Amino acid sequence: MGWSQERLEQVAQTRLNGAKLIVVANREPYIHRYKNGQIEWIRPAGGLTTALDPVMRACGGTWVAHGSGDADKATADANSRLRVPPDDPSYTLRRVWLTPEQEEGYYYGFANSTLWPLCHQVYCKPTFDPSHWEVYKQVNQLFAQAVLEEAEGGPALIFVQDYHFALLPRMLKQVRPDLVIAQFWHIPWPSSEIFRVCPWASELLEGMLGNDLMSFHIQNHCNNFLETVDRTLECRINRENFSVERNSQVTRVRPHPISVDPNLAKEYLGDDWEARAQELRKQWNLENRPLIVGVDRVDYTKGIPERLNAVERFLENHPEWIGQFHFLQLGAPSRTNLPAYRDLTLEVQNIANRVNERFGTEDWKPIIFLNEHHGPEDIFLLYRMSAGCVVSSLHDGMNLVAKEFVTAREDEQGVLVLSEFTGAARELTEANLVNPFDIEQMASGLHACLTMPPEEQRRRMRKMRTQVNDNNIFRWAGKLLSEVGKMVEPSPEDDSDIVLEEEPEEEIKAMLEQHNSIYLFRSGRF
Ligand code: G6P
Repeated sequence: MGWSQERLEQVAQTRLNGAKLIVVANREPYIHRYKNGQIEWIRPAGGLTTALDPVMRACGGTWVAHGSGDADKATADANSRLRVPPDDPSYTLRRVWLTPEQEEGYYYGFANSTLWPLCHQVYCKPTFDPSHWEVYKQVNQLFAQAVLEEAEGGPALIFVQDYHFALLPRMLKQVRPDLVIAQFWHIPWPSSEIFRVCPWASELLEGMLGNDLMSFHIQNHCNNFLETVDRTLECRINRENFSVERNSQVTRVRPHPISVDPNLAKEYLGDDWEARAQELRKQWNLENRPLIVGVDRVDYTKGIPERLNAVERFLENHPEWIGQFHFLQLGAPSRTNLPAYRDLTLEVQNIANRVNERFGTEDWKPIIFLNEHHGPEDIFLLYRMSAGCVVSSLHDGMNLVAKEFVTAREDEQGVLVLSEFTGAARELTEANLVNPFDIEQMASGLHACLTMPPEEQRRRMRKMRTQVNDNNIFRWAGKLLSEVGKMVEPSPEDDSDIVLEEEPEEEIKAMLEQHNSIYLFRSGRF
């Protein structure tokens, strides 16, 4: 049976067994802000909120997040709560208020200047500032307080998101050992050599081992995590079932590749997408030229300069395409308080200008760089009207743009150029896989977007669509919920078809073999 919103609703009911579902993520799914004296709401850019919102719509419950919009207070009640989505409420958003100093030390500081670069292998040196660390601890405590309030009076499953909250699981378990806690790490987990340079590695790991389930996108990140724990803390690692035992707390470590809701493409495109596409072509003077798109937050992990340099190389290699296509880059401004992000925005702008000056004419520019926020209605329109989409992350936990692009292509056309260093590349093997550091390969990928025969596009896109349809966000959430539910409180439904029908005996065996071989090798037993 396939995974759908309805099936996830059923799983949530059986598995949660009356327990509350509380998601904790730094980023809120809906931000309220003032515009021209009016309050409007937007969906922020980024894979985490895109992926989790459909899950919360299906399961209900509470999402605890930083209230980051300037109209957030005005739209929440006295307990900092409101019902969302604003146009069709189905779950609760509990906002946590941070002072500018807390946002600086915890979000811009420890989360995004220490853990983000530490976990991504992109050669941006992490900072290790003790004052950021102090504020990170303090804000984790603040969120713990909010979660405990939300969980008062009964059983609850707490689903913690990402690197902003490495300490939170342990803090919660200490006060409420009965809580079931699972954490999903949306970004990569690096090798132990890399992670262990962090002066607070032990405390971070200790915090994460407060979870009943610690989950990553792919097996490799689980292996790296276990290896890091093994080398850093006193604990028992059980290689039979991939778990860690420390101070009588058992944490299972499992891969669960995140995904998207394939039905959203239809919803966002609507019936009038062709008319809107025509308007857009007029507005940007695109005429009927083919479009290649990139859709990202402007972040140094995404490989945006690499991709624009590849446009230049492509034009050098294939001058016959001068004047014949556009590369359109949507770049949502992100974390702009940090110099690395501001510098990157300038760099991208400079490359775009350089390439446009070199190859552009009076009425044609190869690169259009739109450094502004766009909602999903515009983004899906671009996916649908383009010849290809380029995802050239230098390192990425999953990358949901790649999966979204596939869901938008009901016509089974469009070429996906995908970095082999994304989690998505393990599933979307029919994409045009590239090494983003290899400019010639990237230029060939752009060429493929413009020249791949329609039949070949159809063959590849069909396979990728089946992959994303089957392995959708409801399956991701359903399997996670089944897993924690099962772990904590075996219920009579355990044998029903909603239980991990493909609970990966084979997968587990394979990963254990792989993992054991790492150990055997290391201990010199070969
Ligand atoms: C990545 C992170 C998420 C984050 C998103 C957007 O996907 O894993 O936790 O929400 O980027 O970044 P932002 O800092 O704007 O929330």
